[in-house]
Amino acid sequence: MANSDQTRRDFIKTTGATAGAAAFTSTLTAHAVHSGVDETLRVGLIGCGGRGTGAAKDALAADPQAKLVAVGDTFCDRAEGCLKELRLDEAFGSRVTVDEDHVFDDFDNYKKVTDACDVVILTTPPHFRPLHLAYAVKQGKHAFVEKPVAVDAPGVRSVLESCRLAKEKSLAVVSGLCWRYDSGVRETMRRILEEKAIGDIVAIESSYNAGTLWHRKPDPSWSRMEYQVRNWLYYTWLSGDHIMEQAVHSLDKTAWLMGDTHPVRAMAMGGRQQRTDPKYGHIYDHFTVFYEYPTGQRVYFTCRQQDKTTNHVDETVLGTAGQAEILRHRIVGSDGKKWRYRGPKPSMYRVEHQEMFQSIRDGKPINNGHYMCNSTMIGLMGRMAAYSGKTLTWDECFNSPERLGPSEYAWTDVPEPEVAIPGRQKSEAAEVAAT
Ligand SMILES: NC(=O)c1ccc[n+]([C@@H]2O[C@H](COP(=O)([O-])OP(=O)(O)OC[C@H]3O[C@@H](n4cnc5c(N)ncnc54)[C@H](O)[C@@H]3O)[C@@H](O)[C@H]2O)c1
Repeated sequence: MANSDQTRRDFIKTTGATAGAAAFTSTLTAHAVHSGVDETLRVGLIGCGGRGTGAAKDALAADPQAKLVAVGDTFCDRAEGCLKELRLDEAFGSRVTVDEDHVFDDFDNYKKVTDACDVVILTTPPHFRPLHLAYAVKQGKHAFVEKPVAVDAPGVRSVLESCRLAKEKSLAVVSGLCWRYDSGVRETMRRILEEKAIGDIVAIESSYNAGTLWHRKPDPSWSRMEYQVRNWLYYTWLSGDHIMEQAVHSLDKTAWLMGDTHPVRAMAMGGRQQRTDPKYGHIYDHFTVFYEYPTGQRVYFTCRQQDKTTNHVDETVLGTAGQAEILRHRIVGSDGKKWRYRGPKPSMYRVEHQEMFQSIRDGKPINNGHYMCNSTMIGLMGRMAAYSGKTLTWDECFNSPERLGPSEYAWTDVPEPEVAIPGRQKSEAAEVAAT
């Protein structure tokens, strides 16, 4: 074994050691980084679509000693397309060292990719996240985990447990809820939460109202399973519906403002008006949710994916001493005093990876487990309340036993799920509310 290999493996082993050893590790790695010793971190990518390709670029750009060594996707056309794009990049193409034996395209691809790397990027449709993260943590690997982290309550509970174990093993779990890594949002939040720039928060008006997304034209050779996985956005078992898949970004900001606690109750409505063609699966195209916190504070939330309608994505925070708009980074006090963030705005996607790799190298791995599960669960709660048409409590939703999706994955003709009709939907929500 080459010396550099020995050093690198020791380094990885050390950064995966117990928290008690963290201070010691920190001194060691800090020394080693500056001594020029080879400390390659091997990165693996699972889910080679748009975000996966972007996240791999961010990882390689964030850490000059990171190498992409393995990729997995259920479809080799996606894996090959991603690799082609990454290899062409002048800045880090030479650190894409994936050989043909490390491109995996079956449903077990996640095991083979994880086994080959030190840091795994999880960017498949969210349904697979709990399974993939559980395996990564079991194998002692650091993980970058895209949002949302699950599509159902058993999935959220599984990810919570994986994050607990990751903490025990000193493994990084960094969330793709990227606004947490944005300088303008961070500073706006700091002023609201630490300096009480708008006094106490009374209510939050939150929206993710946007247009429609892509659709992949079917190929006659595809099974229904292949159609669903390729068009995963439109199937709740794969995406969680757009309230979880896309709008979780907004709900995450509301959760952050509420101290990452959780609402006790949700009342919701939703449906599909514009995107009604069966090719769009069975998800809704609009939701409205009222979330109630134990303190009496409220979050009034809407999300929409409809074309030619008004786009609006932001949180307006109403406080006892002013108002703030989070994405616009604006605060207006009730005394008329105005503030706006005008500082630097490095890419939040890049910052996520810079902070993750730095935390691994420092032996102080970041663990975003609590908020990524809490915010995913808040999205799920809204969906369950809307699908069922029932006002639901947090406990009913969090304890729901219903797991969505097939129990085994194969390219067969899976059934087409029906559109949820409130009041008639036999869903996870109805099941819980009935007990
Ligand atoms: N943080 C952000 O701003 C942001 C932006 C876009 C997407 N995302 C998230 O990233 C994830 C991926 O989204 P995307 O836009 O890249 O979608 P995409 O369809 O472009 O990519 C997903 C890829 O995963 C592959 N895949 C499906 N099942 C798989 C499995 N079991 N194993 C391995 N690969 C599998 C698909 O074939 C596809 O190539 C989603 O969770 C999405 O919500 C986050």
